[in-house]
Amino acid sequence: MSNKLPAGPQTHPWIQTYQWVKNPLGYMEECAKKYGDTFTLRVGPLFKPQVLISHPQGIQQIFTTDPKHLDSGAPAGAGAPLLGPNSLLSLEGKTHQRQRKLLTPQFHGERMLTYGELINDITKEETSQWQIGEVFPVLSSMQEISFQVILKAVFGLKDGERCEKLKENLIGILNPKRPLLRVAMIMFPFLRKDLGTWSPWGRYLQLRQQLDELIYAEIQERRCLRRAELSQLDPSRTDILSLMMAIRDEAGEPMTDIELRDELMTLLVAGHETTASSLAFALYWIHSQPGIYEKLLAELDSLGENPDPNAIFKLPYLNAVCSETLRFYPVAMVGLNRLVKSPLEISGYKFETGTIVIPCIYLTHHREDLYPDPQKFKPERFLERQFTPYEFLPFGGGNRRCIGMAFALFEMKLVLANVLSNWHLELAETEPVKPIRKGLLLGPDGGVNMIVKGKRLQNQPVLEKAR
Ligand code: HEM
Repeated sequence: MSNKLPAGPQTHPWIQTYQWVKNPLGYMEECAKKYGDTFTLRVGPLFKPQVLISHPQGIQQIFTTDPKHLDSGAPAGAGAPLLGPNSLLSLEGKTHQRQRKLLTPQFHGERMLTYGELINDITKEETSQWQIGEVFPVLSSMQEISFQVILKAVFGLKDGERCEKLKENLIGILNPKRPLLRVAMIMFPFLRKDLGTWSPWGRYLQLRQQLDELIYAEIQERRCLRRAELSQLDPSRTDILSLMMAIRDEAGEPMTDIELRDELMTLLVAGHETTASSLAFALYWIHSQPGIYEKLLAELDSLGENPDPNAIFKLPYLNAVCSETLRFYPVAMVGLNRLVKSPLEISGYKFETGTIVIPCIYLTHHREDLYPDPQKFKPERFLERQFTPYEFLPFGGGNRRCIGMAFALFEMKLVLANVLSNWHLELAETEPVKPIRKGLLLGPDGGVNMIVKGKRLQNQPVLEKAR
């Protein structure tokens, strides 16, 4: 067994950082070709070695090692300035475990199913603004939908001035005019200079301050409401903020306002663009190859009119299309950094304390031995075989597995079912869509331009309705 770090590019760390930021998929593929399943990159901000791993055995070791020896959190560089120290992403060890235990049930089971109607209403409302003959980037509609879903399901906001302002500020902060500069500011703290609101960092701080004020105002209002209800949780409120305000830890303590703020911000940031970009990619793939669209429509139609959201969630072909979408371009290209806390062995290498290892989602999903012909979009592969959590990992895994996984899949499936059942769309361009880096995530370049061909009428034969 080797004590040395796995091989990797020997170019200057600045060049590695540039390639990593500019062309992450191409760079990872190039490194995998040269160095294999496990390689070391040196990218900013600290230019510390970071070991990327894409063999399922190595991934399994990462996901099953006790967090005492290997964990993410602020020391592993997962904390971002927007989220704060109480964010699930910044926490580690026991506090992380406790917070996850409190939050997880809010995104699962019966609780999740209660959001079905909300997701359908929001999708209908957004798509009702589509005009026949209009060419538009479908990503912007998906962003609007996933924003509304988060603001209403997670924050429990009603339409109104605060909702609008929150949305405006969030768009400003999450979709910066110069995304590469924002990545650079997040990676390199020395670039964070507050030179007033005209400077990029000053503007960022101003937006964050306004966002915080809006969030705290909502929390305060909700506390007053709860007091007025004699500390009884309003049973009509099923949003996640209300549920988080009602939960108590083992010592009987509620979450503080700062903890609530950090967690809300985390759910917003982690749950909005990820779902929107995955939906836009899905709509692209569904319309890019003959057969997929028709097959999906036939499956959706088999449920009859106004199908139960739970029945949609369980549709096998729809599930296969969503899985293949998340396999092909996983919007989180890599999992969170994991910091080695005591010497351990992964993939035949011995890693010293302080090494950073990263599960490489994109490369695992493009392994020829797992996914033959990996550059082909083929939903059937998910019907033909079952993949282990170490072979298919769009939501990461282990103690850091995405807490919104079930919720995101539920939202994706309901939105797709709703759009496909009611609208006839076509791609407006024949060029294949390109994936590009957007901050830490991957998204479709140009937002996937589509044209609205018409409304789809219920109970028409599939092929007649389809094209
Ligand atoms: C298609 C949509 C989504 C994708 C692809 C995705 C992917 C991921 C990935 C890869 C991780 C890191 C896991 C690891 O390193 O092992 C993660 C973590 C996380 N995600 Fe998601 N996510 C999505 C949607 C959501 C939604 C809707 C929410 C919540 C509303 C959410 C909340 C979180 C949180 C809080 C974490 C941190 C978990 C922790 O550190 O314990 N995500 N997600």
